[in-house]
Amino acid sequence: MTRLNALSDLIPSRHPLVQAPMAGAQGSALALAVCAAGGVGSLPAAMLSTEALQTELQTLKEQATGPWNVNFFCHAAPEPDPVAEARWRQVLRPFYDEAGIDPASVPAGAGRVPFSHAIADVVEPFRPPVVSFHFGLPAPDLVDRVKSWGSKLLSSATTVEEARWLEARGTDAVIAQGLEAGGHRGMFLTSELGTQMGTLALLPQMVAAVTVPVIAAGGIASADAVRAAMALGAAGVQVGTAYLCCPEATTSALHRAALMSEAARHTELTTLFSGRPARGIVNRLMRELGSLHPAAPAFPLATAAVAPLRAHFEALGRTDCSPLWSGQNASGCRALPAAEITAALVSGLGPGLD
Ligand SMILES: Cc1cc2nc3c(=O)[nH]c(=O)nc-3n(C[C@H](O)[C@H](O)[C@H](O)COP(=O)(O)O)c2cc1C
Repeated sequence: MTRLNALSDLIPSRHPLVQAPMAGAQGSALALAVCAAGGVGSLPAAMLSTEALQTELQTLKEQATGPWNVNFFCHAAPEPDPVAEARWRQVLRPFYDEAGIDPASVPAGAGRVPFSHAIADVVEPFRPPVVSFHFGLPAPDLVDRVKSWGSKLLSSATTVEEARWLEARGTDAVIAQGLEAGGHRGMFLTSELGTQMGTLALLPQMVAAVTVPVIAAGGIASADAVRAAMALGAAGVQVGTAYLCCPEATTSALHRAALMSEAARHTELTTLFSGRPARGIVNRLMRELGSLHPAAPAFPLATAAVAPLRAHFEALGRTDCSPLWSGQNASGCRALPAAEITAALVSGLGPGLD
């Protein structure tokens, strides 16, 4: 039996489910497993070197059994600011002292690079079925280039205005990222957190405001939640957190343990780990400095100074300074193959495309 909807017309996967790209927590193995289970598997590319990106794309091209997605960040890369960097290291000073690290020995650096023509040169031969962006869209010539490959274009929107902006610039489907979502807020027209809405409030308003398909994301961790999103007009869902404990993910053992513990019930948006608000399980750094810190340098420059602290405490088996990205609903996290997580999420939606 065939179930057609606005998303399957665009991206002909068996199920209207996209596995959320999760930089730092997965690679092609999770994407391939979700594709094999009938969803759209995603490769997060924001933190990959050129060589790693090429290898992962080759793997997906050769092995994916259905449409797959490659995801990029498209933030404006900030100029390094030595004064802001010094202020930030001063804020982190008590942690450096405790860890016995000389802050002067810690190299600065970006860690995440935005999509560019140089990256597009690497991607082009693989002609991904889907390319998705976080933090808006790249420059119009890059958007045109991606579309010239025949790739479908997705991007996250956190407000109705952002959805309209994306639609007007050629995005084929928008991802309604509710406030519950794990990882970075995709917000790009505003930095005002008061504008951010939960999925249940955001989704129907976005569906009413744009004509392109809307994919619901944030807090979706069960078949009932998938059905609820579809009932509110979603053409599909994008699920991240529920896949973090799958064997195919690369989530660290400490992160997995936190996701499966009571601690996962308390998440907050924090700028401490990158400079942009992102949702993670509250840990010591967030408790002691406050999750939204005015001294955190512009995204993604805050990352470098925290990295050695994270490594120090993780070597001791502790998550004091680790970004424990998670959505507000980690109840779907299970140490089960991605095929089983996918099947559970789409059960009750009908048999899907043949
Ligand atoms: C660990 C983690 C990493 C993420 N990294 C990315 C990313 O690289 N690119 C992206 O577009 N979204 C990223 N997200 C956000 C997801 O696309 C999506 O909005 C979110 O996972 C949906 O909410 P949920 O986690 O409650 O399912 C990430 C989310 C998590 C949990």
